[in-house]
Amino acid sequence: MTKAKSAFYITTPIYYVNDKPHIGHAYTTILADVLSRFHRAQGADVFFLTGVDEHGQKVQQAAEKSGILPQEHCDRMMVHFKNAWEKLEITNDFFIRTTDDFHIKAVQDVLQYLWDKGEIYEHEYGGHYCVGCERFYTSKELIDGKCPQHQKAPEYIKEKNYFFKMSQYQGWLIDYINENPGFIQPESRRNEVLGFLKGTLEDLCISRPKSRLSWGIELPFDKNYVTYVWFDALLNYVTAIGYKQDDPKFNRWWPANYHLIGKDIVTTHCVYWPTMLKAAGIPMPETIFAHGWWMVAETKMSKSLQNIVKPLDLVDKYGVDPVRYFLIRDMVLGQDANFSEAMFIKRYNSDLANDFGNLASRIATLINKNYKSTIPKSSNPGTEESEIRKNAEQLSIDVYRLFNELKLNEAIETILTFIRSINRYMEIKAPWKLIKIDKIQTGTILYTAAEGLRIVAKLLQPIMPGKIDQLCKAFPFDSNDLDWGKLESGAKLEELPPLFPRIQAEKPKPVPKMQNTPTKENDANLITIDEFLKAKLVTAKVLAAEPVPDTKKLLKLQIDTGLDTRQIVAGIAEHYTPEQLIGKTIVVVTNLQPATIRGIASNGMLLAAKKDKQLQLITTADPIEPGASVG
Ligand code: MSP
Repeated sequence: MTKAKSAFYITTPIYYVNDKPHIGHAYTTILADVLSRFHRAQGADVFFLTGVDEHGQKVQQAAEKSGILPQEHCDRMMVHFKNAWEKLEITNDFFIRTTDDFHIKAVQDVLQYLWDKGEIYEHEYGGHYCVGCERFYTSKELIDGKCPQHQKAPEYIKEKNYFFKMSQYQGWLIDYINENPGFIQPESRRNEVLGFLKGTLEDLCISRPKSRLSWGIELPFDKNYVTYVWFDALLNYVTAIGYKQDDPKFNRWWPANYHLIGKDIVTTHCVYWPTMLKAAGIPMPETIFAHGWWMVAETKMSKSLQNIVKPLDLVDKYGVDPVRYFLIRDMVLGQDANFSEAMFIKRYNSDLANDFGNLASRIATLINKNYKSTIPKSSNPGTEESEIRKNAEQLSIDVYRLFNELKLNEAIETILTFIRSINRYMEIKAPWKLIKIDKIQTGTILYTAAEGLRIVAKLLQPIMPGKIDQLCKAFPFDSNDLDWGKLESGAKLEELPPLFPRIQAEKPKPVPKMQNTPTKENDANLITIDEFLKAKLVTAKVLAAEPVPDTKKLLKLQIDTGLDTRQIVAGIAEHYTPEQLIGKTIVVVTNLQPATIRGIASNGMLLAAKKDKQLQLITTADPIEPGASVG
């Protein structure tokens, strides 16, 4: 059985469970969802896959940090992804976990097959391993000795491992990419991969000794090793649809129409994956599409910068559809995009509240008031009405094309241009005035605007399914046919709830009035300056940080006070992770009597501000050397 033309298979990367979902993860998943909904609406048989990547060093380390077993960590963390996707109305057909038994079994079958075929060999090797990327880098790939993604020097590791003979497919891969221009998109990424392939392609290390990393899929031919996490993870795209286990199912969906990925994982998807497929005798996916990154103030999101935007916070505040709309609207194909709440509000107010929402409510109000809530007839369409009709017909063609080219931001822009043209038409025709003298002509205008609105609604449905459902419940927009004139005159209009109420940008908080006399302290609490100066406060740099075992609140810090390096124990683990602290400048009291906290020596105390459940470390406004006196 070969894949039917109507079958459409789309995937997202499977996300590491060392972290909770942020808008970057949400973006790829929403993009896949929009495309899935679009293709379903066109009658395609869609399989939309997403899931989580649960093996590897990153996950093992995250579990260790929380003091639990990796499986327990995965079971806890994957729930965050499942919940987020539910809240974002993601319609995935399956959610794969790489700890699923069927996946483990299929990965082992593939490995055994490649081993038997002589595609894998044993070898001692040294390389620079970046845990963040979960991959080895050659010296050439490093920038100033650092990983280009994480700007951290990777660890140099030398050990016996198993290698996949990837290098032998270099020539084949270059030819394949050249002969199939749609294989890697957009073109900039394709060129990047071809550029990468100009260098020597090395064989791929596909194992990790259990002595170093035990959390992974055991190699079927050597129980002292686990499979390299990327080799395991990439195979999810075929194991999820029954590879090696359910041939009819596999043949129904494979090859995938789209693997959607972010630009950070182009090499693994466009070099490792095709060569793995080639060696296993599996046909290539149709398109691997790499989008850009969501940044915050032009900066990569990261825990240490505390600039991670969580999609669910936005959904709770503004509703799911505006968030979906904004992310799809504001990322230009292949480029990075910037996120800020101010931009979100601006976009929402201009596109959704002013243009789209306003048009819908104007039409509904006029029809309710003047036509007893029934769609009027279009009795005598003239040139302007024909123009709108012609534009609507062209709009559907353009939007279909742009969706198929994955230029979704352009598709939205085109739809918005059409919406604005109907708003202008309404302004010029002023049906609210004309109704007083010509009810028939006004009916034509309102029918034309409403039919335009129906077409817009159907085109926006994959992006904002919930709001469009509300609109289609109020307006009699039953027909999904995009041909002009499918809106029935005489059909009933129900009450339309306000779709996109304007968001008032948050007013800056009023500055508390200056008091001429500060609040008076109780005299008994007053201290002299000498008493204050008894406490020796200095700036210190955090050199290392780690949790105190069996406690929830305590962290053990090694700090540089300018005079010495010392250890302190601080009750801040519920507010800061060790990574967030390393490198930070803090303020400490250095002349406190030493204490022993939970059996650990503490030589000083850090300063932090605390209110209710919030805690913020005291630091300096600008960088300063350790040992600067504070007072
Ligand atoms: N587990 C691997 C992927 C294995 S796929 C076989 C991985 N996981 S990840 O959790 O790091 O997620 C990577 C993907 O999340 C990116 O490729 C991208 O799709 C999305 N994003 C993560 N951060 C992003 C942004 N800041 N902006 C946009 N998307 C990014 O790599």
